[in-house]
Amino acid sequence: MDKQKLNLRDLSEMKRQGRKISMITAYDYSFAVLVDGTPMDMILVGDSLGMVVLGYDSTVPVTMEDMIHHTKAVARGAKSTFVVADLPFMSYQVSTHEALRNAGRLLKEAGADAVKLEGGSTVVETVRSIVSAGIPVMGHLGLTPQTATMLGGLKSQARDAAAAKALLADAMLLEQAGAFSLVLEAIPAQLAEVVTREISIPTIGIGAGPQCDGQVLVIHDALGLFQRFVPKFVKRYANLGESVMAALSNYCQEVAEGRFPAPEHCFSMRKEELDKLLKG
Ligand code: KIV
Repeated sequence: MDKQKLNLRDLSEMKRQGRKISMITAYDYSFAVLVDGTPMDMILVGDSLGMVVLGYDSTVPVTMEDMIHHTKAVARGAKSTFVVADLPFMSYQVSTHEALRNAGRLLKEAGADAVKLEGGSTVVETVRSIVSAGIPVMGHLGLTPQTATMLGGLKSQARDAAAAKALLADAMLLEQAGAFSLVLEAIPAQLAEVVTREISIPTIGIGAGPQCDGQVLVIHDALGLFQRFVPKFVKRYANLGESVMAALSNYCQEVAEGRFPAPEHCFSMRKEELDKLLKG
């Protein structure tokens, strides 16, 4: 497939023309290669890796080193897809200086094209300074998993008018600070529609309805690879978890019955060599 990596201007043009933007997470080389072979516009190396790959209960324990390790693997596989990497919890909150250094690492060391961070007015100055350094930033509002405890858990957000107004104000602040795009997670579809209309940067929804400029899903959710829980906003496009278990059970059975490996999976020796071996 002849696919060109998108740039920031392409993404903004897609919003202007009403062409929807597709995004999915990936955390390793093999999945990055698979995603790269589809028309997917963007890959997010999300800190959701903490839950779906590393087995933590939340995204909070994810470190900069985790993000760099996984983003490097994804960048090696995704040659034609725009890669956004999450700044993990506490990598951008302590100081703007530290945020800038960590954002820079995700581009320079790991090969990301842009970074994403969570929050509204409290991170606006940080976003401004990262963008001033030439690093594209994607914002993230609504359900922000890094601070889910403060939000009362992994729950939908901004369902009353006051909270919705505050979210809209945050979206505008992030746009003014130079964010190139904004993830809206688990908010009412009507609010996402208003935000999408009121800001000129693309909104990427996850549990934010169909009016966003694009959509993002966690790949393990979309492919049925994460069984612990399925958020309401997830659509399963495949049930690979079941396929994986069926395939592995089949493998176990063939090993137990001596049916694997078959002759076509074996190497052989020439007869003279075998004779020499057997006759000592
Ligand atoms: O970490 C992640 O995968 C995310 C998406 C849910 C947007 O932030």
